[in-house]
Amino acid sequence: MNRQFLPVVKAGVLWLCVGLVSGCGNKEAETGSLLYQQNCKVCHAQGINGAPIVGRSVAWEKRLVQGEDVLVQHAMEGYGLMPAKGGNSELSEPEVRLVVRYMMSQSGKE
Ligand code: HEC
Repeated sequence: MNRQFLPVVKAGVLWLCVGLVSGCGNKEAETGSLLYQQNCKVCHAQGINGAPIVGRSVAWEKRLVQGEDVLVQHAMEGYGLMPAKGGNSELSEPEVRLVVRYMMSQSGKE
């Protein structure tokens, strides 16, 4: 193949992948993950103030049984040392829900 066309082909493949990923409904998981990195990770990666560490199931066992709705409500309104919406008042309920889903999906395994 002519070398000049290689970047064009690569860009095409990239777009195809992006299209496939969003087509497969991963967009919500991606958004949840992104918003988590931006708003929640600062406490939830290391357990600051006793925040349950995302990815560590022991920390989440008793919280997961409350169910998604209660967890979302606590994240929205604040809970103990957990500030409402992690301190970002701009977040909407659906956004907080996506993050909580992301956290739950990461925290029931190991
Ligand atoms: C300033 C630190 C901090 C930030 C930022 C933060 N959290 Fe928390 N979070 C906590 C702490 C501390 C707890 C434990 C509260 C307790 O159990 O008393 C907690 C607990 C939780 C819980 C469990 C509530 C329950 O009912 O057991 C959820 C869900 C949660 N946080 C979601 C989030 C989400 C979503 C974000 C980002 C939008 C976020 N947190 C950002 C500190 C934080």
